Parts: sequence; C-alpha cells; structure tokens
Amino acid sequence: MVEHYLSILRDKETDHINFKFCLDKVSYLIASEVFSSLSVKRINIETPIKKTKGFQINDDVILLPILRAGLGLLTGFMELFPKVRTGHIGLYRNEETLEPIKYYYRFPAIKDKRKVFIIIVDPMLATGGSTAYTIKQMLENGYRKIAVASLLAAPEGINHINKQFKSLEQQITIYTCSLDEKLNELGYIVPGLGDAGDRLFGTI
Ligand code: PRP
Ligand code: URA
Repeated sequence: MVEHYLSILRDKETDHINFKFCLDKVSYLIASEVFSSLSVKRINIETPIKKTKGFQINDDVILLPILRAGLGLLTGFMELFPKVRTGHIGLYRNEETLEPIKYYYRFPAIKDKRKVFIIIVDPMLATGGSTAYTIKQMLENGYRKIAVASLLAAPEGINHINKQFKSLEQQITIYTCSLDEKLNELGYIVPGLGDAGDRLFGTI
C-alpha cells in the first residue's frame, strides 16, 4: 500500500486534491509503524465473559509536525490515537544556504518529561537540516524519547543526522517509506516528489 500511494505522490501529474488524499492514507501506515515502539503497561480488564489481561499505552505522545508539509502526515497519527497532543514548529529552508530558519514554535505544557514520546513529523528529510534542528531543540528542552516520521529521505540527510547525534546515549529512530538516491544541486530529493509543501497546499 505504501508503494501504491507513494507512486501516485511522486507522479508530477497528481494534483493537490489527490496528493492530500494519498498522503493521508500513507500517514496511517507510517503511524502504525511508529506507534509500534510505544511503551505499554499490562492492565486487568473484564470482558462480558471473563476477567483477562490487556494493555494500555504508557507514553505521553506529542506530535511535532514541521510546518508546512508536516501537517500533511498528521491525520493517521491523530485518528489512530486521538489522545496525542500536537506542538508545531515552523521552519523554512533558506534557498541558498539550505539552512533551516525558524518562524514559529508552540509546544504543549508537560508535567512529566520522562513519560513524553516525541514524534517529529515531516514528509521530506533532504539535507536533514530541518529535522536535525528540531531534534536538537527537543534534546535541549530535556526530552529523551524521540522518533522521526518521514515519507522520503535522502542518504545525505540520514548521514547528517546519524553523524550529528551519534554520541547520544539514546537512539533516535527514523521511520521512512523510501531511501531515495541523492540530493540534486538545489537540495531536492532525487527522484523525490518535488516540493511537498507546495504540492500539498497547491502553491506551485
Ligand atoms: C521542506 C520539507 C522539510 C524540509 C526538508 O520544507 O517540508 O521541512 O524542506 O529539507 P531539509 O531536510 O533539507 O531541511 P520547506 O523548507 O520547503 O518549507 P515548507 O514546508 O513550508 O514548504
Ligand atoms: N523539501 C521538499 O519539499 N522536497 C525536497 O525534495 C526537499 C526538501
């Protein structure tokens, strides 16, 4: 199913209506994979027939979409587990240096940071600059359990993140649907799908 929707998303003829439709569908598939690493606790339950054991999710899950394109992957996460809360970070890439520039940040109030599981959500991991910036901000704010949910990644971006955070005690897991070939000279993923934010919001 991922390959099916990914192929439609990559197709340059796909309009923003179908792009949003397909990204929504893939977001459920990515979310179920990322959620498989949530911690759970055993609980007692009673069916209409008998007492038995079940599970309850133990993590306080915070989604952190990187604006704009990160918004396009939220549906699956929010629908599968409505208890999640959502912060927002607004970053855009300087077109020449490709460095991320922050223009917005809002994060939920947290009582116990140890229970928080942060899921950084952005369909595109290109140079890795935007994701690395966000991971760094989360680490500086004292969060330790961090995952990244992406649709497409470039090897350059994955290497950048691995290098930048390799000395950490904890693992930062990156989930992606495709490790593409490379970046082009403008910092776009090849073959990629073009500019995810523009294609999602019809701003091309
Ligand atoms: C895109 C994309 C990522 C970023 C990835 O955002 O949504 O956030 O680029 O590139 P990087 O790995 O090289 O940092 P963009 O800056 O185009 O902003 P937008 O989502 O508002 O269009
Ligand atoms: N951001 C995008 O939206 N697409 C790319 O290929 C790279 C960064």
